[in-house]
Amino acid sequence: MGGLSRKTFQINTLSDHGKKEKLLLDSGNLLFKRHNIEAGVNQERLTADSIIEIYQELGYTAVGVGPLDLAAGVDFLRHNRDKNVPWISANLLDGEEKPLFKRWISKKIQGVDVVITAITANSPQTEPGLIIKPWNTILPELLKDINNTTNNPFIILLSTLTDAENQQIAEQFSNIHLIIGADRRKGNISPLQVNGTLLTQTGTQGKYQGLLDLKFGSKRQWAEDNSKQLADLQNRLGALNWQLKRLEKKAGIPANAGKYESSITRLRNEKEELNKEIVSRQNKGKQINNEDANKDQYIIQFVDLKKSMPFDLKTENKLTQLKNEIRELHKKKKAALAKQAAENPTGYGQDMLGNQGCAICHAKQTDFWKSTNHADAYTTLVEKEKNLDLQCLPCHMTQDIQTIPLGQQPLEHLLNFPQELQAVGCETCHGAGKKHSMEPERFKMTKLPGKKICLTCHTDDHDDNFVYNTKLPKVSCPAE
Ligand code: HEC
Ligand code: HEC
Ligand code: HEC
Ligand code: HEC
Repeated sequence: MGGLSRKTFQINTLSDHGKKEKLLLDSGNLLFKRHNIEAGVNQERLTADSIIEIYQELGYTAVGVGPLDLAAGVDFLRHNRDKNVPWISANLLDGEEKPLFKRWISKKIQGVDVVITAITANSPQTEPGLIIKPWNTILPELLKDINNTTNNPFIILLSTLTDAENQQIAEQFSNIHLIIGADRRKGNISPLQVNGTLLTQTGTQGKYQGLLDLKFGSKRQWAEDNSKQLADLQNRLGALNWQLKRLEKKAGIPANAGKYESSITRLRNEKEELNKEIVSRQNKGKQINNEDANKDQYIIQFVDLKKSMPFDLKTENKLTQLKNEIRELHKKKKAALAKQAAENPTGYGQDMLGNQGCAICHAKQTDFWKSTNHADAYTTLVEKEKNLDLQCLPCHMTQDIQTIPLGQQPLEHLLNFPQELQAVGCETCHGAGKKHSMEPERFKMTKLPGKKICLTCHTDDHDDNFVYNTKLPKVSCPAE
């Protein structure tokens, strides 16, 4: 969500660029991060509502329905259909096998009928009465229908299926011209032609925008595929570099003086040639080639979302409003949880002691810990007014992550955690310590927290240069 107002700014500026006809597309899975969202008002639904409003504002041409978009039930989307988000799915059907959304839409671009359709990947949790038909049963008829109603269309498929499945589709249905994927295990995928179909995707979470510049010819057929040759050249360069490094290393040993000189020179020349060829191919890929004018051509650019990108003011206001709604909601939840805990004091987090308890016997380590930013992790959220935000609390609080992995911890309890656990405290790294504090010799603590522990929070999204060996000394408590 944090990046959304930058993303809005970026999309608005990118699409203002030039006066070309444009399509704004998203393959789906944009609303939720889990497959099943509880009923009632909660942070995830409020957040999804805001995303929908922002997408509506941006004026998307088509958005595929992904299984994660169905997590709050199909009615959540249908209710929001009034809001003009152009949801598309060819294979999401109701109990009577009628499509729940438009199966495709078409738009004339450069005089060509561009058809955008979408396939929803199967969901591990579909609500009763909802059918997600497999792609291989739906596509033949769908393509027939499209081709019967449009003339020589350029067909784009938005897909939340896996990259492997998209490749299978490309192999079987060469009359789909472009597949835009959303495989969450893959990042950006440079365009790849499979059996005449172009496959590509940008990584999840909106870190990149894929800018695809299309020029249609009279034939629905791609011009020469530059990308494959480029990939081959780059592979060759990789192998050559490896050989060269190995020889240079050998040549560095005094006993080998002069022995490899001619081979090294030969490889260096080869490398120079290869580099030239790559640059020329890359430049070629940046231009539309007039010799191939009767075929379809493309140029792709992945534009990354820079931290320095300005905010879009309107989106930023919407996000502030969302933040306040979430705070109000969670203030109420917090009060309810406090009442519950007072009535029934055994519950979640009971094996933990809290920092002050450890301090009694480990004063030296506690003093050190207080000097690290871990001790202020919760304060950081308070300063940002994010201390009632369930998306932030997990990594800025003390939890027993050695017993239950972070992603599986119950969330709302965090709202009611006592002050002693409001920080990345001792027990984050050393494990829950209530028993240890009573019988230290009998119940031992984890002394050295492994890399895996750190990485539960120091993920790429939140710390893009985490190196365990260099970061560890900064948080290692001193010995007695
Ligand atoms: C009542 C005193 C007491 C309290 C309270 C206490 N400890 Fe300890 N702790 C000890 C003693 C004594 C040892 C040494 C035990 C041993 O070496 O057998 C120890 C050892 C440790 C070690 C080193 C383990 C090792 O293998 O060398 C860690 C880490 C540790 N404690 C963390 C904590 C944390 C975190 C807390 C709070 C949740 C805590 N302790 C609370 C007394 C205490
Ligand atoms: C529960 C989540 C969590 C875990 C686990 C965690 N960290 Fe952190 N770490 C944070 C947060 C959050 C911050 C930023 C705190 C702030 O500034 O508000 C941080 C900050 C840091 C910093 C900067 C601290 C400073 O004082 O400059 C270092 C270094 C660091 N962590 C290393 C580690 C290492 C090494 C581990 C594993 C042994 C680890 N962290 C485990 C959440 C975590
Ligand atoms: C997956 C774990 C995780 C989540 C979730 C998370 N953070 Fe953090 N956060 C970190 C880590 C790790 C750092 C330290 C990064 C570093 O050392 O460079 C950090 C650092 C920060 C800092 C910078 C502290 C400083 O001044 O240097 C801020 C501000 C912050 N987080 C706010 C938030 C907010 C707001 C949210 C919720 C929208 C959030 N975080 C959610 C792990 C997380
Ligand atoms: C970010 C992770 C982290 C946090 C949080 C943390 N520690 Fe540590 N602690 C370490 C590391 C790393 C070591 C060094 C282990 C080693 O070198 O084997 C260590 C060592 C220790 C030791 C053993 C010292 C020795 O060698 O005898 C104790 C006791 C200890 N910590 C207590 C605490 C207490 C108490 C707190 C909270 C006030 C705390 N730690 C918070 C990471 C952490």
